[in-house]
Amino acid sequence: MTVKILGTGSYVPDKVVTNEDLAQIVDTSDEWISSRTGIKERRISEGEGTSQLAIKAAEAALLQSGVRAEEIDIIILGTSTPDKCFPNGACEVQGAIGAVNAVAYDISAACSGFIYALNTVYAFFESGIYKKALVIGCDVLSKLVDWEDRGTCVLFGDGAGAAVVEAEEGDGFHMLMGSDGKKSAAMECISRTCGNFITGKRPEIGYMTMDGQEIFKFAVKKVPECVEQLLQESSVDKEDVQAFILHQANYRIVESIAKRMKLPIERFPMNIEKYGNTSGGTIPILLDELNREGKFQKGDRIVLAGFGAGLTWGAALLQW
Ligand code: ACO
Repeated sequence: MTVKILGTGSYVPDKVVTNEDLAQIVDTSDEWISSRTGIKERRISEGEGTSQLAIKAAEAALLQSGVRAEEIDIIILGTSTPDKCFPNGACEVQGAIGAVNAVAYDISAACSGFIYALNTVYAFFESGIYKKALVIGCDVLSKLVDWEDRGTCVLFGDGAGAAVVEAEEGDGFHMLMGSDGKKSAAMECISRTCGNFITGKRPEIGYMTMDGQEIFKFAVKKVPECVEQLLQESSVDKEDVQAFILHQANYRIVESIAKRMKLPIERFPMNIEKYGNTSGGTIPILLDELNREGKFQKGDRIVLAGFGAGLTWGAALLQW
């Protein structure tokens, strides 16, 4: 069984925050941010929550796919910034779009969230349990960022991307995932729900913390390993892959991965300059932009690959 993409959609908030804007609130500069990350600006929510962004991306994907919401069997939202402890964000999407026949839940895998969600859907397709799915990656990281910490606040933005997918006969889809909980301290954000009955304390507000260099080293080693293993297991030559759509965390990470894989950087499309790192959102937003620009032909092989806090990583090979 393979995964056929029937439609994609994405949504980012209207508010643009440039590097110059950030230089007004922390000790940084456009030169530092753009030379180290490739980011020029990002979108920041002015009140829209994760579910609202996810709903807009989902609606766009459904519209493009021509699939009615009632036909969807399962909705999985990859997010680590849900608006509420419960209900989960996928249920909120389900309610808003009227996907009355779907089961809906979230997957938490930070920036690997969309890949984990897509690969989970594939497993359901393989087993014959479900046939049509809505897969979403969405984060509003501006809720978790310490806006006084220049080491992290310049990197992230808010956004959502989605794909409507269907099970189809064939073997064009292959996947790989992994995680390493021993390295969880490299990037974390404590829960806001701890403390309470025993301590009598109000919940603490947790902000994101990150060891940037540790994450950098992990990404440039693990992503090429993971993609090469995936291609090997699928018996697909890397030269036959039209596009490598990687998690957009830092253009230098993408460049290093292209170099390690000995492939031209042109095969690694990027949009990080416009949105920064939208975590679970980056891969489906980029996929949607390229799709709407008409960049994919029927039969094209595409690799999606992500990495993030956990540590988590994963890749998917699909055929357009
Ligand atoms: N502006 C100006 N100076 C800064 C800033 C800033 N925004 N941030 C840090 N600096 C300073 C540091 O204080 C340090 O100063 P010092 O030398 O006086 O101590 C100097 O710049 C260099 O800092 P480094 O951390 O060594 O900078 P580095 O070249 O490693 O770049 C970066 C930092 C961009 C964060 C890089 O390590 C990186 O991209 N890492 C990957 C992070 C990532 O992708 N995280 C997301 C993971 S996915 C997920 O799950 C959400």
